[in-house]
Amino acid sequence: MRTIGALLLTTGLCAAVTACTDKANAPRSLAQADAAEGLRLIERHGCAACHAIPGVRWPQGRTGGDLTGVASRPMIAGRLPNQPGVMTALVRDAPALLPGTGMPPMPLTEAEARDVAAYLYTLDDD
Ligand code: HEC
Repeated sequence: MRTIGALLLTTGLCAAVTACTDKANAPRSLAQADAAEGLRLIERHGCAACHAIPGVRWPQGRTGGDLTGVASRPMIAGRLPNQPGVMTALVRDAPALLPGTGMPPMPLTEAEARDVAAYLYTLDDD
């Protein structure tokens, strides 16, 4: 819980400082994360039931929106700064960051969430 609290605080601060949401300045390195493993996790956990995701042929769900180009968007879900720590937290526990969201918490470890985020950051061809 304390981690989430700190993250929300950071997110709030970033929202106040527009430089944080400037995609040119956003750090995108996820040390030791494995994007290829991230794709395997995305397939195993059925993210594509709700999202069209480049690299996943089937299914291509529509509930959660198309993740094509998600890496180059300045905001996640239009509300959160697109930064690795926020993305990692979101793919694991979206309701903690987006109260009332239709995206459920996903059973990923922290390390797995970083791998998933690393894969999402390869999707920059909007
Ligand atoms: C049951 C459906 C569902 C599943 C399963 C699901 N999501 Fe989502 N996802 C959503 C919805 C709905 C949103 C929109 C969130 C909002 O705006 O409140 C979303 C939003 C997102 C976003 C933000 C997209 C944007 O436009 O900025 C990302 C990234 C994401 N999901 C990744 C994932 C990943 C990775 C997985 C698998 C680990 C996953 N989702 C599983 C429904 C789902």
